Amino acid sequence: MDKMSAHRTNIPNSLNEHWMPFSSNRDFKKNPRLITSAKGLYLKTHEGKTLIDASCGLFCNPLGHGREEIAEAVSKQLRELDFVLPFNQGFGGSFELATRIAKHTPEDLNKIFYTICGSTAVDSAIKIAMAYHAANGNKKKFRFVGRDRGYHGMNIGGLSVGGFNNYKEMCTSVLMPGVQHMRHTLLPEHKFVKGQPDTGAELADDLELIANKFEGEVAACIIEPIAGSTGILVPPKGYLDRLRKICDKHGILLIFDEVITGWGRTGSPFAAQEFNVTPDIMTLAKATTNGVVPMGVVAVRDGIYDAVINSAPEGAIELFHGYTYSGIPAAVAAALAVQDIFEKENIFNRVKKISPYFQETLYSLKDLECVENIRGYGLLGGIDIKMKDKPGKAGFQVYKFCYENGVNLKATGDALVLAPPFISEKKHIDEIFEKIRKSINQYMKQ
Ligand SMILES: Cc1ncc(COP(=O)(O)O)c(C=O)c1O
Repeated sequence: MDKMSAHRTNIPNSLNEHWMPFSSNRDFKKNPRLITSAKGLYLKTHEGKTLIDASCGLFCNPLGHGREEIAEAVSKQLRELDFVLPFNQGFGGSFELATRIAKHTPEDLNKIFYTICGSTAVDSAIKIAMAYHAANGNKKKFRFVGRDRGYHGMNIGGLSVGGFNNYKEMCTSVLMPGVQHMRHTLLPEHKFVKGQPDTGAELADDLELIANKFEGEVAACIIEPIAGSTGILVPPKGYLDRLRKICDKHGILLIFDEVITGWGRTGSPFAAQEFNVTPDIMTLAKATTNGVVPMGVVAVRDGIYDAVINSAPEGAIELFHGYTYSGIPAAVAAALAVQDIFEKENIFNRVKKISPYFQETLYSLKDLECVENIRGYGLLGGIDIKMKDKPGKAGFQVYKFCYENGVNLKATGDALVLAPPFISEKKHIDEIFEKIRKSINQYMKQ
């Protein structure tokens, strides 16, 4: 490695110019946490510490860091063909990838639209839903329904349907009109319940109320099958089924945002299959490329594609939507290499096998006094830390102790969010929870 590129992962001369996303810039710049290298389940920090990655960064690298096969495929692709104009032109890889993705998506969700990330996948799904209704002559359908505590990215569409009010405060005047929100599914009796709670399916009836109130105006309902970023809210038994039935009754499209749950997190390729409920549209990102090159995906039913395509005159552009970086060669190469690994290493099955041990160990933290609730499913876990003074303070402090003690995870408010790599073994899970326990104990003693 030459001197210039060696420096890119080491300690910079100045921290002043980079405005970091979703961060306490001031806190970070006083006490930086820089990652200098990553391999398998482990990260190295600029202080020479080793961290075990219990959240795949941001749910991104379930096959582990530094996968040679992916690096090799991307590097080869960049040398051979680095960019193709994606409108009215193409290259073989993006078609091959779409075929391979469609083999895993449920039922007839066989049409694959590429975007750049999760946020652009969600905004594209919103536009596709509008285009579908317009193609069917339903121009009155303009409303979207989201859910409290839902996270669908930071573009205007995703922000509008998302359920984090504090993220929207600075831009309420530019949000989409007519958006309604259902209640989230976490009930007081779900405390420390393992897997899917028995109660709460009737919360889906919020959609029925909205559909009746705005009869003929609701275009689509978007939810995360398991709400991820907010701290892992597992759907009550029967809830998703009930939403599906209400959507069918009122001609509402059901969109599953599987940006976190997609590609094996639950032990099935998608949560749709795990919970046996098929949406009309699905959004994916993150694990699609093992997080190493940005890519988002919208998978839609054949019938939606057909309606939109056939509504345009022959030879015309059917959907005025797309991005410069829709399905760029480097992202496609990474995603194809990921597909190879999924198959070769029987990854989804591996998740199914290790998940019970992860869940059992996750719930063992229940005895800690400041642990207020635990939720989990597959290789996802949420741990609520008792609030201190103001929301988010306790979560951030525990997160910092975790980092100090060698375990990397995501904290949202006072919830610690865990999503370990699919290649985790029992010894890794033991290490993760020993370090989290130690960190929470330290936090309680301070
Ligand atoms: C469910 C869900 N949808 C959308 C997004 C947005 O994805 P991105 O940050 O890639 O735009 C996220 C990000 O965490 C997510 O969890």
